[in-house]
Amino acid sequence: VTVYLVGAGPGDPGLLTRRGAELLARADVVVHDRLIDHELLELAPNGAELIDVGKVPGASPAQAGITALLIELGRTGQEVVRLKGGDPFVFGRGGEEAEALGDAGVDFEVVPGVSSAFAAPAAAGIPVTHRGLATSVTVVTGHVGDPSAPGGVDWASLGRAGGTLVVMMGMSERARIADELLRSGRQATTPVAVVHWATTERQQVVRTTLGGLAAVDLPAPSVIVVGAVAGLDLGALVGEGGPAGQGGPSS
Ligand SMILES: C[S@@+](CC[C@H](N)C(=O)[O-])C[C@H]1O[C@@H](n2cnc3c(N)ncnc32)[C@H](O)[C@@H]1O
Repeated sequence: VTVYLVGAGPGDPGLLTRRGAELLARADVVVHDRLIDHELLELAPNGAELIDVGKVPGASPAQAGITALLIELGRTGQEVVRLKGGDPFVFGRGGEEAEALGDAGVDFEVVPGVSSAFAAPAAAGIPVTHRGLATSVTVVTGHVGDPSAPGGVDWASLGRAGGTLVVMMGMSERARIADELLRSGRQATTPVAVVHWATTERQQVVRTTLGGLAAVDLPAPSVIVVGAVAGLDLGALVGEGGPAGQGGPSS
């Protein structure tokens, strides 16, 4: 194998998998996203080449250039780590990279990561499923322009289905998302939590309701959790009491 598509986890470097750390420690080249913690890049050997292919949110994605780079590097026979935020196969375009590598005949391996879809709620003390409150969880993109969601997301049926909704990349569309869910029959009093920069020292959690979501002013990266479980706060589950500012259940 020459190219490893490695999930970096949601932010806290401690949430990288052991397999990911092993591969980083022997990488010749690390091709990484913009939001990757520098502590993770320091796991690579001193002489390793670090390439930041970070994309500015909303800017035209240079995805074709990234896959071309991975193919080119893969063909050199070097150990290439493609380090991606969260899990490479959860809204990370890792699938496209894997497809392109496969088509080009370049060997690759996928190393799953802890996705922010689940880590962000957990870090805010929210279990995405919970006896008596939610028997399902749906992870959805809030970014209408997302090419992985042709035809858009069917908010009306998501709203009717109940259960927990985890919306990624949804902050810029939060007013529309709230509106769609309200029109589908969800109550304005439905608990909502917005978790910004989960598992890092920049973590912030805002608790509100579906009726109040439009007024929440947190930038990306943030995850929106909608449903009864968003009203729970079972304490920070990451690290000792969680990152600074996110103490125990009382915070
Ligand atoms: C392009 S997606 C990548 C998701 C990634 N593959 C994963 O599994 O977490 C980027 C979105 O993930 C979410 N996200 C990633 N890291 C986050 C974090 N530490 N805290 C909150 N949301 C995060 C945000 O919704 C952000 O807009």
